[in-house]
Amino acid sequence: MKKHILVIPGDGIGPEVTTWGKAALEQIADAFGHEFSFDEALMGHASIEVNGNPLPDETLEKAKNSDAILFGAVGHAKYDNDPSLKVRPEQGLLKIRKELGLYANLRPILLFDELLNASSIKPSILKGTDILFFRELTGDVYFGEKTRSEDRNTASDLMIYHKYEVERIAHKAYQAAMQRSKRLCSVDKANVLESSRLWRETVQEIAKLYPEVETEHMFIDNAAMQLIKDPKRFDVVLTANLFGDILTDEASQIAGSMGMLASASVGDGTGFFEPIHGSAHDITGKNLANPLASILSAALMLEIGFGLKEEAKVIIDAVDQVLKEGFRTNDIADGSTNPYKVLGTQEMGKLVLKFISQKVITQNS
Ligand code: IPM
Ligand code: MN
Repeated sequence: MKKHILVIPGDGIGPEVTTWGKAALEQIADAFGHEFSFDEALMGHASIEVNGNPLPDETLEKAKNSDAILFGAVGHAKYDNDPSLKVRPEQGLLKIRKELGLYANLRPILLFDELLNASSIKPSILKGTDILFFRELTGDVYFGEKTRSEDRNTASDLMIYHKYEVERIAHKAYQAAMQRSKRLCSVDKANVLESSRLWRETVQEIAKLYPEVETEHMFIDNAAMQLIKDPKRFDVVLTANLFGDILTDEASQIAGSMGMLASASVGDGTGFFEPIHGSAHDITGKNLANPLASILSAALMLEIGFGLKEEAKVIIDAVDQVLKEGFRTNDIADGSTNPYKVLGTQEMGKLVLKFISQKVITQNS
């Protein structure tokens, strides 16, 4: 298979971790005889520094002309502490999502058994959890009109949804539910918000087209609680942009760490694959970041972007083996971890690559 992949490392730990996601793709291409070509582009603070723009046209052009995008993270402490700055790294990410029509953000909560103890939730509650979030990604307060009064003392963000936006992501979530355990929970705040009432009505309509799927509707506040109380009750979770942003950070604790979770944003064209974690300025450049979310994002690219299931599985199995053998990055180490097996970003990346190549050799022999 021939594919052209754009790598956008971005800011903070983005470049450190994306190196390993890309290396995993190169190794898979080698092993399975695929031809993957790569290009690189700027986004976020890294791009603002060079040309004052978090998403230059050149990056957008390259993105549109690629078959998939591997992204790192955007953000910088300087902006977090100064809300008055008008040009912000995150604008680049939001714009590329909109421009590429990436309306569905898939966030699988992939729980490796070896990490049951890394979570702050009891292993008995966690074991067997397998959730796939569908977060709407190009609507909601993220893209609604923003206002600020002249005296600067009043501000608003419009929470807005159009029916077609709910329909298209609902279809994607139901199609996934059909392939899984045929359970779907749609999360909203329909007891208060009109946009959520539209959301619920629309999901109820789409549900009729998938009669085999058992649909549940839940309010966001209750969902946030149930997710910690009994995560196993969820399978496919369908929700809006802001609710999904918050719920999936919460759900990352089920997997042990934000450093473990990958995501796929898909829609009209080129798919976009990225860790759910951010730029993590506090650990940038210290060889402390967990590269597994980027490596698992590469696996999602192979599976969802290119339909290469076997190749994706090799990567997931290699990550599983690393964990089974007791190796950890700092974020997923716990009291029982052998201190000699706590690895830096680079050492962890190299080890996964080694296991990928071993798995391919065993498969082919
Ligand atoms: C995410 C991030 C982004 C979001 C930020 C960086 C704009 O938190 O991908 O979850 O809020 O969508
Ligand atoms: Mn987020």
